[in-house]
Amino acid sequence: MPTLVIVGAQWGDEAKGKMIDVLGGQANLVVRYAGGNNAGHTVITGGKTYKFQLIPAGILHPNTVAVIGSGMVVCPEGLLDELERTQSQKSDLGTLKISSAAHVVFPYHRMLDALEEEARGENKIGTTSRGIGPAYQDKVARTGIRMGEFVEPAIFERRFAEVLAYKNRLLEMFGSKPLEFAPTFERYLKYAERLKPFVEDTEILAQDAVAAGHRVLFEGAQGTYLDLDSGTYPYVTSSHPVAGGACLGTGVGPRDINNVLGVCKAYTTRVGSGPFPTELDDEIGARIREQGQEYGTVTGRGRRCGWLDLVALRHSARLNSLSGLVVTRLDVLQGIGRLKVATGYRVDGNPVRTLPANVWDLAKVQAEYEELEGWDEDLRPCRKFEDLPSSVRHYLAFIEEYTKTPVAIVSIGPDRDETIIVRPDLIWG
Ligand code: IMP
Repeated sequence: MPTLVIVGAQWGDEAKGKMIDVLGGQANLVVRYAGGNNAGHTVITGGKTYKFQLIPAGILHPNTVAVIGSGMVVCPEGLLDELERTQSQKSDLGTLKISSAAHVVFPYHRMLDALEEEARGENKIGTTSRGIGPAYQDKVARTGIRMGEFVEPAIFERRFAEVLAYKNRLLEMFGSKPLEFAPTFERYLKYAERLKPFVEDTEILAQDAVAAGHRVLFEGAQGTYLDLDSGTYPYVTSSHPVAGGACLGTGVGPRDINNVLGVCKAYTTRVGSGPFPTELDDEIGARIREQGQEYGTVTGRGRRCGWLDLVALRHSARLNSLSGLVVTRLDVLQGIGRLKVATGYRVDGNPVRTLPANVWDLAKVQAEYEELEGWDEDLRPCRKFEDLPSSVRHYLAFIEEYTKTPVAIVSIGPDRDETIIVRPDLIWG
């Protein structure tokens, strides 16, 4: 069964977009299973830079069907802009499909995202302000409007009138101006007309592809520790980035998932608030940020940078039942000197086995480190595992040993070609 999940193994931004582009070309179907335009996937290929927020990066391959899965929340305006931009950059794109069960993000979601953040005062989550949390809140509250309803004008009108009346009461409660029904509805009706040709029951599409033995890639967004249940709650997103989310957000059952590759950086970053045990609040952190150009694709915010946290990565390997790791951005650590990796945690002086589930305990964690040799060589010309300096190979072996997970792929630069496949057997099986 050639099915593969690509999951972010840390706090997001692990360079999944590049891996989905590299492997998407080998897949018949690429289905993204979570999140919305809070994600930003960058793909650099053929001298061009593509930026995706909603469309699966697999769309760059003409024979691939790229699906926006049922676990996603979709901003129609953002999606149409992204589609137009990508079409203007490349004429022979794959086919786009949108799940009729994906939820629609409306302006009141974005307004409420900002108002809720303000109300949190000092305990801000640091959201991307794209209305993602409020859109998922509506899904859970069963007031959300799904794509299938959105593209049927009579149903959309009735549902939108009913939901907007409720949302306006909320907006007024926050002291904000209510939204007028007619202009908002008219604007969104036009978006719906344009999106209608792409909308269908994609659960069946994915199930049929699996049954036919086609290669199906499940594209994750964000990362494991931003997962609503398994992440560093409440500093998380509102969906399920973990590998299990691939089933929830696409309509394919767990026995139909074969391999799971966890993408991790050779160090750690996170954006937004929340504890981060290996954070480097010094010139090494600043240097990693500059060398790696660690600034958010969606918000432009500087990312918080730190050493590789193997305690968190080992837990992530188990949470996601990883078959293998994809270690990215090794090139960024060039010339940093000796490298530290966290191999233990202590809370109040006592050793703890893994990431405490309670975020307030996580905030008290003192990470313990091992030091490994760094490298000064430029890794970007390397094309085979054997081309990598021995210090890099040792760094990778240390990760494998600690996490009990083999390294399947190594990425040593942003370009498609700057990728070394170490274990092809761990990709499609
Ligand atoms: P939201 O998803 O906009 O609600 O933001 C919730 C948290 O998840 C914030 O800390 C964001 O910075 C973080 N977040 C959301 N999307 C991403 C992503 O694609 N990469 C990294 N962090 C993200």
